[in-house]
Amino acid sequence: MVNFFGKSIIYLANLCVAVHFLNGSVDGAALKHEATLEISAATINHSMALVQRMEALLNHGNGSDVTLHVQTVNTDEVKVIQVHTLVLSLQSDVFDELLQTRNSSVLTLRETAECAAVFDKFIRYLYCGDITVRLNQAIALHKLASKYHVWDLQQGLTQYMTHHLSSDSPTGHVVGWYQYAMQIGDVALQNSCLQYLSWNLSSVLHSAEWSSVGEELLLNLLQRSDLVLQSELELYEALETWINQNQPSTTTAENALKAIRYAMISPQHLFHLQKKSSLMGKYYESVRDLLFLAFQFHASSPVQLAKYFDVNCSLFTPRNYLSPAWGSPWVINNPTRDDRSFSFPTQLGPSGHDANKRVTWNALFSPRWLPLSVRSSYPEHGSMQPTRTDGGRPRIIITPATSSPDFAGVTFQKTVIVSTRKQGKVVVRHVYNFHQSTEEVGDFLLDADLQRRTSEYLIDSSLYLHIIVKPLYHSLIVAKK
Ligand SMILES: *[C@@H]1O[C@H](CO)[C@@H](O)[C@H](O)[C@H]1NC(C)=O
Ligand SMILES: *[C@@H]1O[C@H](CO)[C@@H](O)[C@H](O)[C@H]1NC(C)=O
Ligand SMILES: *[C@@H]1O[C@H](CO)[C@@H](O)[C@H](O)[C@H]1NC(C)=O
Ligand SMILES: *[C@@H]1O[C@H](CO)[C@@H](O)[C@H](O)[C@H]1NC(C)=O
Ligand SMILES: *[C@@H]1O[C@H](CO)[C@@H](O)[C@H](O)[C@H]1NC(C)=O
Repeated sequence: MVNFFGKSIIYLANLCVAVHFLNGSVDGAALKHEATLEISAATINHSMALVQRMEALLNHGNGSDVTLHVQTVNTDEVKVIQVHTLVLSLQSDVFDELLQTRNSSVLTLRETAECAAVFDKFIRYLYCGDITVRLNQAIALHKLASKYHVWDLQQGLTQYMTHHLSSDSPTGHVVGWYQYAMQIGDVALQNSCLQYLSWNLSSVLHSAEWSSVGEELLLNLLQRSDLVLQSELELYEALETWINQNQPSTTTAENALKAIRYAMISPQHLFHLQKKSSLMGKYYESVRDLLFLAFQFHASSPVQLAKYFDVNCSLFTPRNYLSPAWGSPWVINNPTRDDRSFSFPTQLGPSGHDANKRVTWNALFSPRWLPLSVRSSYPEHGSMQPTRTDGGRPRIIITPATSSPDFAGVTFQKTVIVSTRKQGKVVVRHVYNFHQSTEEVGDFLLDADLQRRTSEYLIDSSLYLHIIVKPLYHSLIVAKK
C-alpha cells in the first residue's frame, strides 16, 4: 500500500535535492556545463500513461485505504467508492481534514441528489486532473468544487459557464446559472449571464426559459437601457406572460409594470393596452401617472415637453430596439477591403407628435482609419481623406443626410450592435454607443482582428452590424436652466 505512492514521494524528494545542488553551484564552469547538458537534454514524457494508471487505480480500488459512502440526503441511496487518502488529501484540504479526523475506514458524506449524481466524475477529476462537463452538470460540480476547496476545478467551471451561455439546451440554462451565481456571490459570472440575457432578450422572451426568470432578475433586467429587443411593446407583452405564469406579489407586479418605458410605445398601442390588457386593468392605479406622462409626451414636441417635465428619466430613454423605425441591419462583406457607405431612414423620434417625420442617416465604415493627430505626421497625405496606412483602426461615422429644425433640443445617440456566431448561434458580441463617430468610444472593434478570417467578430468573413439611432432628450434640461 505504502509502496506505490511512498516510493514516488521519495523519488521526487531526491530530485529536489539534486536541483538544489545544481542551483547552489552557479559559477561560470557550472553554467557552461549546464549549457552543454541543455543541448543533449530531452523530455521523456509518460504523463498520459500516469493518468491512465491513476484512473485504473481508482477503478479497481487497488491499495485503497478508505471507503467513501456518498449518501444522498433524505434518501437511503448510498454510493460506495474505494479511494486513497493520499490523493484526496493532496487535492483538497477539506478532505485532508475529514480523513485525519475520521475514526473508521469508512467516510460518510452527505450530498444533494444533483451532487451525488456527479460525485464519481468529481472524484475522477481528483485522480486524473481532467473532466468532461455537460451544461446540466456545471452547477453540481461547481458546488462540489467549492465545498471541498478544489479551486482550480471551481475556476475552470466558472470559465466553462461563461463560455457556454449561448449553447443549446432544451429548457435554457442561463437563468439557472445566474441564480446560482447570485447565491454564491460570484459577481463576474452573474454579470456575464445578465449581459447575455440583456443582449439577446428577444429570444429569451419567446423561450421556455422566460417563465423561470426570478423576481430579482426580472426587475434587474427591466431597469436596463441596453436590452436588445424588438420593441418596448414586446417587453410589455412578455411581462404580461411572466406575471400570469408566476403570480407574483402585488408589489412585484407593480414595480415591474412601472419599469416599462410607456413613452416608447406608440399612442395607438398604449390606448389599446389601456383598454384591452387585463394586466393593465388590474394594476391601472399604479401606472396611471406614467401612462398620462407618456400620452403627454406623444402630444407635444420634445422642446415643449422639456419646459414642464424633467425629461431625463428612464421613461423617455429608448433601449436597443431592433424594429425598423429605430435603425437598420448592415452586413459588410470582407470589411478590411475598403471604405463602405450606407444610408438608412429612421423615425425622427418615438413621439406621436413626430409621427411620419423621417431622418435619413449616412454611415461610413473605414477599416483602417487613422486619427488626425497621427496623420499630421505624414504631411505628404495632407488631405482630409482617410489614409490607407496599415496600423489604422476601424471606424464608423454616422451623420444625418440633411439638418432639420426638428432636431432642436434632441441629441441622437447611435448604437452599433456587432453580432457573432457562437456554438452555432448568432449572438451579440458587443454593443457600442456614441454620438457621431466610434472614435468617441476608443475600443471600437479594438481586438476584433478583422484581417483574420476566423476573427471572433466575423460571420463567414462578414461583419454583421445593426445600427440604432436613439433620440435623447437630456440636453433640454441643461437648456432650460
Ligand atoms: C507530456 O505530454 C502531454 C500529452 O501527451 C502534454 O500535455 C504535456 O504538455 C507533455 N509534457 C511535457 C513536459 O512535455
Ligand atoms: C489491481 O487488482 C487487480 C485484481 O484485484 C489486478 O488484476 C490488477 O493487476 C491490479 N492492478 C494493479 C495496477 O496493481
Ligand atoms: C466515531 O464513530 C462513532 C460511531 O462509530 C461516531 O458516533 C462518532 O461521531 C465518530 N467520531 C468522529 C470524530 O467521527
Ligand atoms: C441574439 O440577438 C441577435 C441580435 O438581436 C439575434 O440576431 C440572434 O438571433 C439572437 N440569438 C440568440 C441565440 O438568441
Ligand atoms: C440625467 O440623469 C442621470 C441620472 O439619473 C445623471 O447621471 C445625468 O447626469 C443626467 N443628465 C443630465 C443632462 O441632466
